[in-house]
Amino acid sequence: MPQVSFDNDIKPLMTEADRNHMEFMFDLWSYKDVKDNADDIYDSVSNGRMPPPQGGGPWSKDKVDLFKQWMDGGYQP
Ligand code: HEM
Repeated sequence: MPQVSFDNDIKPLMTEADRNHMEFMFDLWSYKDVKDNADDIYDSVSNGRMPPPQGGGPWSKDKVDLFKQWMDGGYQP
């Protein structure tokens, strides 16, 4: 299976609304910001706290798993 990369796989998971709402903490379209906060972001999406219902609701298991694979794969850009 090809490596999971930020540009191809992870960034497209983050909508423009997600990005705008979360800019007070970090930029969800920035490789560095998402990498630096990956543990906390993973926590928030895997327990369904983020994105909230107004932001489209929790990610599917596939999306959460993809994010984890990206982390486990060494945060490919
Ligand atoms: C460390 C991880 C995160 C924390 C601690 C966090 C925390 C918060 C907090 C405190 C708010 C409310 C503030 C506001 O509405 O202006 C918020 C809103 C929001 N967050 Fe997050 N967030 C995290 C990750 C994410 C991720 C990964 C996404 C999307 C993939 C996301 C999507 C949203 C959206 C869409 C809203 C706005 C909800 C509304 O319309 O009221 N957040 N977040």
